[in-house]
Amino acid sequence: MEFPFNINHLFSERFSILDKTLVAGRIFLCPKTIFQPGYEQRICALCPQAQKLTTPVTSATKMQSQHHQLYLMKDGESRGAIVGFLKVGYKKLFLLDPQGLHVEAEPLCVLDFFITENLQRHGHGLELFHFMLQKMEPALMAYDRPSPKLLSFLAKHYRLTQSVPQVRFVDFLVSVDDHDSQIH
Ligand code: ACO
Repeated sequence: MEFPFNINHLFSERFSILDKTLVAGRIFLCPKTIFQPGYEQRICALCPQAQKLTTPVTSATKMQSQHHQLYLMKDGESRGAIVGFLKVGYKKLFLLDPQGLHVEAEPLCVLDFFITENLQRHGHGLELFHFMLQKMEPALMAYDRPSPKLLSFLAKHYRLTQSVPQVRFVDFLVSVDDHDSQIH
């Protein structure tokens, strides 16, 4: 599925970060501009369809009330098409460690990750994930109900193969060797 609209007039850079202030880079974008009904539906609603979800992955209201960051990646061409997006946020969680003990943690969570279907497996996911990581280690993050594609992606690019299944909400992926440094 492609995003059939041009976002060049909203986002000048290849990567844009939207947070609760709805500020992308140095350009202030008021909710009405970015998330006017059409855009909210387009940016958010196209993706659940492709991921077979029933509800939008985010909305202006959610972005403003929650401490989430939405990373948008667009193509480098005049088409200004969205290549994909990645939504992350810190969440206070009670996680099970590999020994089955509960630990309280507030990891950065990958909440939604999507690359336009016909552009998948071309390295765009890695490019976007890499841009988001900057100072963060993938092994220190939690992954909300990771799909088989995401598990394969993490195994391939970051050698994250050991997951600790959680009672609900997340699978906390840890590499066994680094386990102690990852739970805080
Ligand atoms: N089947 C299995 N593994 C896949 C697939 C697939 N169809 N697509 C990508 N991958 C994994 C593989 O490890 C692949 O390596 P390979 O081609 O050598 O097998 C690797 O990702 C490719 O890396 P990139 O090209 O950098 O990844 P891509 O641009 O495809 O982005 C992503 C990865 C975001 C998972 C993308 O495939 C996608 O949008 N998938 C559909 C939506 C999805 O599953 N999102 C994760 C939901 S869970 C969550 O958000 C917490």
